[in-house]
Amino acid sequence: MKRKSSPVNHSLILGVSGGIGVYKALELLRLFQKAGFETWVVMTENAQRFVSPLSFQTFTPNPVITSLFTEPLVHIELQKREILLIAPATANIIGKIACGICDDALSTITCAFPGPKVLVPAMNKEMWENPVVQENIRKLKSLGYHIMEPKEGELASGEWGKGRMPEPEEIFAFVQSLLSQKKEGILSGLKILITAGRTEEDIDPVRVLTNRSSGRLGKELAEKAKDWGADCLLIAGRMEEKPEGVKIISCRTASEMLSLLKRESKKNDILIMTAAVGDYKPLVREKGKKIKKKSFSLPLVKNVDILESLREEKLFKVGFSLDSEAELIKEAKRKLKEKNLDLICANSFASLESDFIEATILSRDGEIERLPRMTKREFAAHLLQKIKTKFNEKVKSFT
Ligand SMILES: Cc1cc2nc3c(=O)[nH]c(=O)nc-3n(C[C@H](O)[C@H](O)[C@H](O)COP(=O)(O)O)c2cc1C
Repeated sequence: MKRKSSPVNHSLILGVSGGIGVYKALELLRLFQKAGFETWVVMTENAQRFVSPLSFQTFTPNPVITSLFTEPLVHIELQKREILLIAPATANIIGKIACGICDDALSTITCAFPGPKVLVPAMNKEMWENPVVQENIRKLKSLGYHIMEPKEGELASGEWGKGRMPEPEEIFAFVQSLLSQKKEGILSGLKILITAGRTEEDIDPVRVLTNRSSGRLGKELAEKAKDWGADCLLIAGRMEEKPEGVKIISCRTASEMLSLLKRESKKNDILIMTAAVGDYKPLVREKGKKIKKKSFSLPLVKNVDILESLREEKLFKVGFSLDSEAELIKEAKRKLKEKNLDLICANSFASLESDFIEATILSRDGEIERLPRMTKREFAAHLLQKIKTKFNEKVKSFT
């Protein structure tokens, strides 16, 4: 008999790993199929011990994938699908994904999949509370994976605790809400001002006083904010690479940057200040001629403190604090308060000129989030999500 098909509006890969909750994945597949999704099921070998591929095949017109070695190559073919959902996600598949292991169809397809990935962990209480599993979950969250936390309730073993797989209807709603956020862009409607790169101060007509900041983080933030629907303006000092598709105003010195920010602050909702602004500038600038003395002293004076100068501006402000490990948190707390910031990201000198960052995010409300080392692109995505949450909370508190 020919299966009745609904109009296709989304495409989904449903990964099924070998946990007791596999039977719920059948109903989940039925819900997606009924809602008009193009569905692809990928089963691990152990999942097939619980429910046969034939049962899943009943609900999807596409072949149920159980092997990687097929023609065409599934891990490449499926890259074009919209979202990947693994439900149930065993402790084993979570560990493999977190470590980049690709030893079967599901782990390889997940590793090769560029789109949003949702994991629905389900396991007994002891496994869920195992520090290794928790560490893997933290790592995957920080890498942008969406984790739908297990429920508390009666587990398959008969004991009570956290680890139960949510009901198919709840998982279906979670995925639907992610897809609608993605469409609208989680930052759409917001005007975001980002500074990036390094400032420089003239010593004479050819020499400058500057620092080692590459501007990479500001670039990643600007590109991600634009992708997520924000109206984004970048005020850029010297940068190695500029973001694509973002409005940019360039400047050189700290005071040029400050006057641009004073002008733009009123027109924006959020300021993210990643630029490395020189703390000092030469007391006197040699105009017209190059310094040629055999030796000379260069007296320096404190430069303008941009965030301090903007402390009365009403927009949501995010600062950065670069310091030695020993001083990091103490200094970040001081700056958060004194400069009247909403968030501050504390990071050590190791992030300079690097593609990686290990940061701690401190919020005005006292929350402290220590993040593991990650790429600046991953950090940009995490920070923007956090800014969105805290910005919404702030707006709500005023209404
Ligand atoms: C009856 C039974 C139920 C299981 N239920 C779960 C479970 O709910 N969650 C889990 O993480 N592992 C569970 N396991 C263990 C996994 O099946 C095992 O770790 C396996 O290696 C997972 O393989 P996969 O991730 O490749 O599917 C269960 C094992 C058995 C025998």
